[in-house]
Amino acid sequence: MPIRIYVDGGLFDEKTAVIPVFDRGFLYGDSVYEVTRTVGGKPVDLEPHLSRLERSAEAIMLPIMPRPVIMNALAETLSAAGNPDSYIRVIVTRGAGELGLDPDLADKPRLIIVVKPLKLPPGDLYRDGASIAIVGVRRNLRRAVDPAVKSGNYLNNIMAFAEAKRAGAYESIMCNAEGLVVEGSTSNIFAVKDRVIRTPALEDGLLDGITRRRVLQIACDAGYALEQVHMRPDDLRLADELFLTSSVRGVMPVVRVDGMPVKDARPGTVTRELMALYDQFLARVAVGTL
Ligand code: PDD
Repeated sequence: MPIRIYVDGGLFDEKTAVIPVFDRGFLYGDSVYEVTRTVGGKPVDLEPHLSRLERSAEAIMLPIMPRPVIMNALAETLSAAGNPDSYIRVIVTRGAGELGLDPDLADKPRLIIVVKPLKLPPGDLYRDGASIAIVGVRRNLRRAVDPAVKSGNYLNNIMAFAEAKRAGAYESIMCNAEGLVVEGSTSNIFAVKDRVIRTPALEDGLLDGITRRRVLQIACDAGYALEQVHMRPDDLRLADELFLTSSVRGVMPVVRVDGMPVKDARPGTVTRELMALYDQFLARVAVGTL
């Protein structure tokens, strides 16, 4: 099943797709990006993803191309790939130019779209639950590059992930400089206690996850009490249930924190209900009723 990559108006495979060495996305991570998937061939939550891409671009003063240009390029790439379902990555770099940090050295923004066959995480992570490690690497300050900006510079998160992997965990959970829990390297975190669903407040410095928002909506519709809070590491350790969200993972149960079991170390009932409700949401996207 093919990979198709859109670069500068052309379609390529992974061997032939190239960008200039002087592209600032390559040199400095001077870019913004989004990741989503399709279901039934339809991109999931495309509008909010493109809105976030535009917000990220604005935050780093990157003059992004008009939305229809991105939507047309995406449709073209998806159709060329022809996968039953795809992973989608939309990247916009500031462009290429003379070496130097000055953003004005960039020629013009470059659009790159990667479409690959969708590969979901292994089923046992959903059946048995994943493990997380609360790592020492801190999430960037909001007054540095705000974590709400999905930029191409992920080194902080890469270091956090590597620390979790060394500890044998599936995902890292980062705290902010104040020691409050904020998010995973590529996921948002939720804790359930006495059937109340809590997740770190955006003001503590994290990505406004599209799946996070979707799950908050779904949980609200299902009548759950929801709170966006200042979350402490103990709120994770002492929770009844934990789960992660992200566009490709959906809702994934977590059963271990730093090697210690969460309750009975089995995916909880609230998490399992939200997983089912998220699947129903995907099914509605697939048939086009959403
Ligand atoms: N990452 N937090 C971070 C730091 C992320 O990179 C992501 C997503 C999320 C979840 O956001 P969303 O629900 O919008 O996918 C939270 C994507 C999946 C990635 O980089 O692959």
